[in-house]
Amino acid sequence: MAHCVITGGSRGIGKATALALAAGGWSLTINYHNNTAAAEAVCAAALDAGAPQVRLAAADISDPEQAATMIKEAEKAQGPISGLVCNAGIIRTQFTALTSPDDWRKIHATNLDGSFYVTKAVIRGMVRQRAGRIVYISSDAALLGDLMRAAYSSSKAGLLGLMRAVSREVASAGVTVNAITPGIITTDMTADIPETRRQKQLAAIPLGRFGEPGEVAAAVSFLMSDAASFITGQTLSVNGGLYM
Ligand SMILES: NC(=O)c1ccc[n+]([C@@H]2O[C@H](COP(=O)([O-])OP(=O)(O)OC[C@H]3O[C@@H](n4cnc5c(N)ncnc54)[C@H](OP(=O)(O)O)[C@@H]3O)[C@@H](O)[C@H]2O)c1
Repeated sequence: MAHCVITGGSRGIGKATALALAAGGWSLTINYHNNTAAAEAVCAAALDAGAPQVRLAAADISDPEQAATMIKEAEKAQGPISGLVCNAGIIRTQFTALTSPDDWRKIHATNLDGSFYVTKAVIRGMVRQRAGRIVYISSDAALLGDLMRAAYSSSKAGLLGLMRAVSREVASAGVTVNAITPGIITTDMTADIPETRRQKQLAAIPLGRFGEPGEVAAAVSFLMSDAASFITGQTLSVNGGLYM
C-alpha cells in the first residue's frame, strides 16, 4: 500500500496536500509540531477523503532525533514509506542586519535541516523498494530573494540544492525527487502581511491574485503520481506567474 509522510500537515499547504493525496488513495503519516486539534481535524478529513489509513505524528523536525524517530515509528505502524512531502516551514520578516543568529539558525533548522533529517531517514527504504517519490515545498523566495527574508530565502534555496543532489543519488532506483516553489498562497503564514506590502505583491503577480493551498496540492499530487514517472530533479513554480 502506498504510504506517504507529509511534514507540517496540520495546516495550510500541508493540510491541502494531505487531503489531495488521501483522495488519490495514499495512506498517510501526517506530521505536525504543536497544533494537535488542527492535526486531528485533518486526520478525520483525510479518512473521509479516501485514505486507507491515517496516523498523526507530532514531532519537531528541526530536531534530528525526533525526525528519525518519527520516520521509524511511521514505518513500524504503516509499513514501508514510498512518498515524502517535505512541507513544514516557518518564516520571519526582518532586515538582514537585524536578524539574530538564533533566528537565522531556527529558520534553517526547520526549513532545510529538518527536510534533510527526514530525507535521510526515508531514502534507504525507497531505494530498497526501488520506488519512491519525494517532493520539497521550497518557495519562489528561493528564486527571487524575498525582501527582508534572507534567512527564509536562503533556507528555501538550500532545499533546491538538496533536491537536485538527492535526485541524482536515487534516480537509478527509480525514485524521483522534485520541488515546488509556491508564490504567495493564502494560509496562516501569509495572513498578517501588511496591506501596503500585500498590494505591491498583488501588483507583481500576472494572474492578479494569491494562490490557494489546493492549487499547490494539485501540483504535489501530480509529482507524486505515476503520471510524473519521468520527471526528476525539477522545480515547478505554482505562483500565478510571480517568478518566470
Ligand atoms: N503560504 C505561502 O505563501 C508559501 C509560499 C511559498 C512557500 N511556502 C512554504 O509552504 C510550506 C507550508 O506553508 P503554509 O503557508 O502552509 O504554512 P502554515 O500554514 O504556517 O503551516 C506550517 C505547518 O508546518 C508545521 N511546522 C512548523 N514548524 C514545524 C516543525 N519544527 N516540525 C514539524 N512541523 C512544523 C506546522 O505545524 P503546527 O500546526 O503544529 O504548528 C504547520 O503544519 C512551508 O514550508 C512554507 O515555507 C508557503
